[in-house]
Amino acid sequence: MSVSELPVITIPASAFNARYLPFLQAGQRTQVFFGGAGSGKSAFLAMRCALDALTGRNTLVVRQVARTLRSSCFTEVQKAVARFSLGDFFQVNKSDMTLTCLKNGAQIIFLGLDDVEKIKSITPMRGSLSDVWVEEATEVSRVDVKQLEKRLRGPSRHTKRLTLSFNPVSRGHWLCQEYFGGFPDEEGLQVTDDLLILRTTYRDNRFLTEDDRKALEGERDPYFRQVYTLGEWGSVGGAILTNWQVAPPPDERPEEEMRCGLDFGYAGDPAAAVLVRYDRKRKALWVLDELRETNLTNDKLAEKLKLFAPGMTVVCDSSEPKSIAELRRHGVMAMPAKKGPDSVMHGLQWLMQQELKLAPCCPAAREELLNYRWKGDGQGGYLPRPEGEDHLIDALRYAMEGDSNEKRAKAIRRWL
Ligand SMILES: Nc1ncnc2c1ncn2[C@@H]1O[C@H](COP(=O)(O)OP(=O)(O)OP(=O)(O)O)[C@@H](O)[C@H]1O
Ligand SMILES: [Mg+2]
Repeated sequence: MSVSELPVITIPASAFNARYLPFLQAGQRTQVFFGGAGSGKSAFLAMRCALDALTGRNTLVVRQVARTLRSSCFTEVQKAVARFSLGDFFQVNKSDMTLTCLKNGAQIIFLGLDDVEKIKSITPMRGSLSDVWVEEATEVSRVDVKQLEKRLRGPSRHTKRLTLSFNPVSRGHWLCQEYFGGFPDEEGLQVTDDLLILRTTYRDNRFLTEDDRKALEGERDPYFRQVYTLGEWGSVGGAILTNWQVAPPPDERPEEEMRCGLDFGYAGDPAAAVLVRYDRKRKALWVLDELRETNLTNDKLAEKLKLFAPGMTVVCDSSEPKSIAELRRHGVMAMPAKKGPDSVMHGLQWLMQQELKLAPCCPAAREELLNYRWKGDGQGGYLPRPEGEDHLIDALRYAMEGDSNEKRAKAIRRWL
C-alpha cells in the first residue's frame, strides 16, 4: 500500500498546543526544542514522529541511557498513537523498543547511547533514517550528537532532520555555545533555512495539571526557577562567584593598586591574563582588561603582555618555570604564583569577600564567572570542587595572591 492509498486521517489542531503547531512539518536540518519543565516538548515530538511514520519517515529516538528511554519517549510515542486512535497502524515491539507502521514499513526506533553495539549497526527496515531525535540532549556529548548527525546520510525522498530537546541546564553547556549565538531571547523563536529553535514553558502547555503548574510557579530556588519555570539558560545554581557586576571602569590607574596575573596555555587551553586595579581599603577589585588567546608562543605572549600590562609584575601559573624564565628573558617581570594544596579554595574564598567589578571589555571573564560553579553531588547539593572554564579566574587568583595572603606578599617583595 503506498502513501496515497492510506486512509485519510483527520487530527484536530486542538490535539496540539498552539505554540508547537506551526512546526509540525518544519523542515529545518537542525531543530531545537528547549525550555522549562512540563512545557510539552516531549509530547509534541512524540506525536510528530508518530504522524511522520505514516508518511514514511524513519525516526531514531535517542537518549543517553536506554533504560530512561523506555519510560519516557517510548511510552510517550505509544500514548500519541493511542491518542490519535492509530493503534491499527502500528506494531509495537516492546523488547526491541521499535514501532513499525504496518502500512508502509516505516519505523520509530528507540536506542540508548549506552547500547554501543546497536547504535553502530542500526538501520530501519525500509529506506534510510530521515530523523534523529535526541531527547534530553544536555546529557549527550557534542561528539556523540555529531556522530548521530552523520547517520542522516543516504538517499531519501524526505528532508533529513536532527531534532534536539532539553531543559537549558547551564549557560556553559556546549549546546548553548553551538546553537544559541543568534538566538533572540525575548522572542524565544529563531527560524532560518536550516535552523529552528523554539523555547517553551509550562505556560505553553494547556494539558499540564494544576498541581504541576502550581509547583512550577511556586519554585523558590533561583536556579530551578530560571531553568525549569522560565526555561532560560541556567547560570546561578552552584555559582561560585556571584559578587560581581559589569560596570564602566575608573579612568585612573594608580601604580600601587595595579595587578596582573597570567595562566599559561597553548593549543587546547588559552593563555589567559587579567589586568586588575585593587583598592584594598574598599575591597573594590576592578578587572580592567583581559587577554585570552591560544597558540601564542612565549615570545609572542611576552610582546602582548608588555602592551597589556606595561612595566608590571606578572604573577604566573607556577607549573611552567621554563615559560616564566622565557618571559623574563623577553623582558616581562614574570614571577611564579605559589600553588599550595589549598591555594585554589583560599584564593576563591578571598575573592568571594571582595566587591568585583568587570569592565565591559571583558566578555570572556564574564562567561567564566557565569559558568564557574561547584560540582553537584548528584543529590541536589554541591561539593567543594569547582568546575567550568577557569583560565581567567586562575589568572585573577594569581594576580591577587599577594593581597589575599600577607605572608605571600612579603615573599613576592623578596623575590623581586
Ligand atoms: N498535546 C498534548 N496532549 C496531551 N497531553 C499533553 C500534550 N502536550 C503535553 N501534554 C502533557 O503535559 C505533560 C508535560 O508535557 P511534556 O512531558 O511533553 O513536557 P516537557 O516539555 O517534555 O517537560 P520536561 O522538560 O520536564 O521533559 C505530560 O503529561 C504530557 O503528556
Ligand atoms: Mg520532556
